[in-house]
Amino acid sequence: MEAEAILTTRNLTMRFGGLTAVSAFNAAIPRGSIVGLIGPNGAGKTTCFNMITGFYQPSEGQVHFKGRDITGTPPHKVCHSGIARTFQNIRLFGNGTVLENVMVGCHVRQATGWWQAVLGLPSSRKEARALMEKSRELLAVVDLGDLADEKAGALPYGAQRRLEIARALATEPAFLLLDEPAAGMNPNETQELMGFVRDIRRRFDLTILLIEHDMKVVMGICEHIWVLDYGVTIAEGCPEAIRANPKVIEAYLGEEAVGHA
Ligand SMILES: Nc1ncnc2c1ncn2[C@@H]1O[C@H](COP(=O)(O)OP(=O)(O)O)[C@@H](O)[C@H]1O
Ligand SMILES: [Mg+2]
Repeated sequence: MEAEAILTTRNLTMRFGGLTAVSAFNAAIPRGSIVGLIGPNGAGKTTCFNMITGFYQPSEGQVHFKGRDITGTPPHKVCHSGIARTFQNIRLFGNGTVLENVMVGCHVRQATGWWQAVLGLPSSRKEARALMEKSRELLAVVDLGDLADEKAGALPYGAQRRLEIARALATEPAFLLLDEPAAGMNPNETQELMGFVRDIRRRFDLTILLIEHDMKVVMGICEHIWVLDYGVTIAEGCPEAIRANPKVIEAYLGEEAVGHA
């Protein structure tokens, strides 16, 4: 972990009433890396994403992105600063077309104000064409080029997950958070996803943080992993170290399994 960190969290903590969902989460994520956040259900993984992306105001601690303190910044501003995400429960405009869903993401980088678009000014028309082109290119990247005019809600699960990634990429992020990208995918799709995540990292010069239950995915593509259990970071390190860590095995399988290991 020698590369310069693009994102760091310091003592990031989230309390809901009496429950501490995340307790003092500290991470330094090297620019250009693919890293993972794992842990049993309810461990606080999505809550970490929500604090980093501005959906939740942390109870304590800070998030620094590219050297700037972005703690408590609202989601649209976090997105504009270059952080994009997907959601554990897919959030697409189900009645919109596949293409429209990606175009929504592109708007983050549009120079023209909505009033110019309403008036149909030439600059806005030119921009609209460019936006359409960019969206089609992104759909090709996620292998949905042929389905541009389909309703997003009608796509199979795996395709919807890829569409969410295309929409996130449309915002031109430097940092991408994927919340359980392989959930609902069949083994073939999951295998493809791994190559795909590596591909987009290179192609778009990304740093990627992912939450994932599928250990094959996590161990296969992550260079560094943080493990949460009941909001507490019980381990961090490279995949080999995590796999061999008794605390991690215990959190996943229960003490008995470790005792008999
Ligand atoms: N908005 C919220 N209000 C109250 N409790 C929440 C909220 N969001 C998450 N939690 C609680 O925080 C804990 C961690 O949840 P979450 O981050 O979704 O876990 P994970 O993604 O690791 O499965 C859970 O106990 C969950 O019920
Ligand atoms: Mg979650």
